[in-house]
Amino acid sequence: MAGLDRSATVAVVGCGAMGAGIAQVAASAGHTVLLFDAREGAAAKAVDGIADALAKLVAKDKMREEDRVALLGRLEPVGGLAALAPSALVVEAIVEDLEVKRGLFRDLEGIVGEDAILATNTSSLPVTAIAAPLKRPERFAGLHFFNPAPLMALVEIISGLATDRAVAETLFATAKTWGKSPVHARSTPGFIVNRVARPFYAEGLRALQEQAGDPATLDAVMRECGGFRMGPFELMDLIGHDVNFAVTRSVHAAYFGDPRFQPSLIQQELVEAGRLGRKTGRGFYDYGAGVEKALAKDAPDAPRPSVVSVEGHLGPAHGLVEVIREAGITVEKLPGPLPTRPFGRNRIGRLVVDGVTLTLTDGRSATQHAAEIGRGDVVLFDLARDYAGATRIAIAAADGAARGSIAKAAGLFQALGKRVSVLDDLPGLLVMRTVAMLANEAADAVLQGVASAADVDTAMTKGVNYPLGPLAWAETIGLDLVVDVLDALNRTYGEDRYRASALLRRKVWGGTFFHD
Ligand code: NAI
Repeated sequence: MAGLDRSATVAVVGCGAMGAGIAQVAASAGHTVLLFDAREGAAAKAVDGIADALAKLVAKDKMREEDRVALLGRLEPVGGLAALAPSALVVEAIVEDLEVKRGLFRDLEGIVGEDAILATNTSSLPVTAIAAPLKRPERFAGLHFFNPAPLMALVEIISGLATDRAVAETLFATAKTWGKSPVHARSTPGFIVNRVARPFYAEGLRALQEQAGDPATLDAVMRECGGFRMGPFELMDLIGHDVNFAVTRSVHAAYFGDPRFQPSLIQQELVEAGRLGRKTGRGFYDYGAGVEKALAKDAPDAPRPSVVSVEGHLGPAHGLVEVIREAGITVEKLPGPLPTRPFGRNRIGRLVVDGVTLTLTDGRSATQHAAEIGRGDVVLFDLARDYAGATRIAIAAADGAARGSIAKAAGLFQALGKRVSVLDDLPGLLVMRTVAMLANEAADAVLQGVASAADVDTAMTKGVNYPLGPLAWAETIGLDLVVDVLDALNRTYGEDRYRASALLRRKVWGGTFFHD
């Protein structure tokens, strides 16, 4: 299916942050773009804003001046909806209000030609509901850009109940020719990104609520051990707690109160206090002038071990053995748990450092783990995106572990060149439980036909910059271990929030994968 021809006229209605960005993207691709905003002067102001943004690109040698002039020549602010008649595609980015959007599209139906496509950039309203009053809802779809639209590659193409597949395909192909990475999604609450990303914030908030660590330490673990570009607390501060909390509440309500999406009291309190993040100068962090950013707490330097025993296979952490050897530490191999997959409960091997058992979390707390294997000095470590490259590792000790256990574990990881964050005994530690919950939500989205596995993973890498798609990541960990982590959390907390997706279980039983 071909996208819109460059000669086709595109209209943007609502020229705020998103509308202006979308107009810039369409004009960059060669379209004439008509801009309309109900507020007088707003469309012209949006064009001025684009002109300034492009001037910066020219100053940085990222754009030629003649291209800037040509692009600006394709942007045409108009004074009324009637002027949008020649448009082949209208993208709406007005206020997030169902009735206002419905009214606009009913008006547009009487103005544009029969073949024109109508699209909404809504981030939270059902596409099906906006289209319902239209005479021809089949030509209506969601075209969901991410902020800032000129920079973010992802575009979710949302089909409502009535959307014609050909319309969705045309939008998909058009977004591609605009240099974007489009994905298809069905109109369901949060679409892909705003649904699947919820655990990234929720598990961080949960860890904080359970006093596993402070925001700066937990953020550092997610960045330097998990490989995420930002930690959840600094990201929520950037997004704004009012916005982030409202999205969580709306997704939670839209899924009829499913505990998977339960909002956090901690975040609610920040909103109530007016600590909305960077924009108010305070959120989890204090951005006041002269205030130094809170730093992650690191374990004090501890002695380096000379010998480490390896019992069995360390599952997704097995790469550590080589890293330990390369650090010049003697590795003794001992017989241990099963050397191959499946890696689940009690099947992942262990490292033993001077009597302390060190193993990757499988969703149980260190204390539960110690009780079940009958060894007291147990220290668990977190999932790392890449054990060789990670600059930090999170660890937690069982309640009954001897005093020096943490120092012995920390000494090993420090000898490998890593900083060590000591968390309270959080079941599943932070990176593992976050990735498991992201994969769980992604699997349910696939199970429910919201999007394909490939599109879910693309959405999360292009829309929120995750280092890997959650389903591809779960496969590198082992889907069996991911299900074990979820089951352990489910048992520990007794909460439906941690129920494993039926599709994850099916993949484990069937020995099949999301990606070939
Ligand atoms: P904004 O408040 O910056 O801009 C909205 C613009 O629409 C304003 O200029 C306003 O004057 C105009 N407007 C309002 N009612 C209108 C009407 N009936 N006809 C014509 N113009 C009208 O809002 P923003 O952030 O650009 O959001 C617009 C849409 O994009 C919303 O549906 C929002 O949910 C969605 N969205 C926002 C994202 C964001 O990060 N801000 C990301 C993705 C989607």
